Amino acid sequence: MSFNLLKGKKGIIFGALDANSIAWKTAETIHAEGGTFVLTNAPIAMRMGQIDELAKKTGSKIIPADATSEEDLDNLVTQSMEILGGKIDFVLHAIGMSVNVRKGRAYTDEKYDFTTKGWDVSALSFHKVMQSLYKADAMNEWGSIVALTYMAAQRTFPDYNDMADNKAYLESVARSFGYFFGKEKKVRVNTISQSPTATTAGQGVKGFDSFISYAEKMSPLGNATAQDCADYTVTLFSDLTKKVTMQNLFHDGGFSNTGVSQEVIDRFSE
Ligand SMILES: NC(=O)c1ccc[n+]([C@@H]2O[C@H](COP(=O)([O-])OP(=O)(O)OC[C@H]3O[C@@H](n4cnc5c(N)ncnc54)[C@H](O)[C@@H]3O)[C@@H](O)[C@H]2O)c1
Repeated sequence: MSFNLLKGKKGIIFGALDANSIAWKTAETIHAEGGTFVLTNAPIAMRMGQIDELAKKTGSKIIPADATSEEDLDNLVTQSMEILGGKIDFVLHAIGMSVNVRKGRAYTDEKYDFTTKGWDVSALSFHKVMQSLYKADAMNEWGSIVALTYMAAQRTFPDYNDMADNKAYLESVARSFGYFFGKEKKVRVNTISQSPTATTAGQGVKGFDSFISYAEKMSPLGNATAQDCADYTVTLFSDLTKKVTMQNLFHDGGFSNTGVSQEVIDRFSE
């Protein structure tokens, strides 16, 4: 179903790797809603992923950029404005990676070089993206910037490892930069705290399959899928949410406010 909510709006989408990526589904949905955009991902992901296919489908250009490189980001912002023919209305930051998780290091045994790298990619990159947009005065008034996060920023999920700390930092950056972007440019900045979702990044977390079923049983509405997240993001990019800013918005079927569900009680009564 399409409502033309993003007709005439232009944006940048980070993080579409393959058809499971939340950013991939979001790009398809934005396209269906009339938005146009530039796709970007780390140069290495160009080789691993299938982003060309998405670009073809949505009539988009791809600009490779490592989200930790200020130079790459400045270039991305300048080129995007050229390609799209003006300032930007929406930006999706859908980037996450922990080297400690990848290398199987426990939270109590972090290798700090890995920690720093993961923080740069997953959290500081959001500040870098916004600083680049801000300095270039690249955002249109009433534009909208969204990053994706997870509830491990507020509550402990042992296997989420150092990504929990990265997400806490990311959410704080959204509030802090949201203040300046709101005051100076009338641009809103929010994070969506999404249910566990079967993607490359998600499945990297130890015990992911059991965890996603647990979350499903704990959420009164069930887990939010990648497509649900795409739909929610479209609302945040539309003109219907102009005064929502500096928020961490839970999009999890009610998981975050559920103490226990009947299904989980039943499992323990067996
Ligand atoms: N999958 C889940 O369970 C879940 C839940 C809540 C939040 N999230 C968040 O959603 C976002 C998108 O992840 P996803 O689940 O769609 O997985 P994904 O693996 O499809 O996407 C992660 C993306 O980050 C990109 N990336 C990594 N390093 C980069 C760099 N240096 N520069 C630019 N891009 C880089 C990857 O290439 C990839 O496209 C992440 O922030 C993730 O933490 C995911």
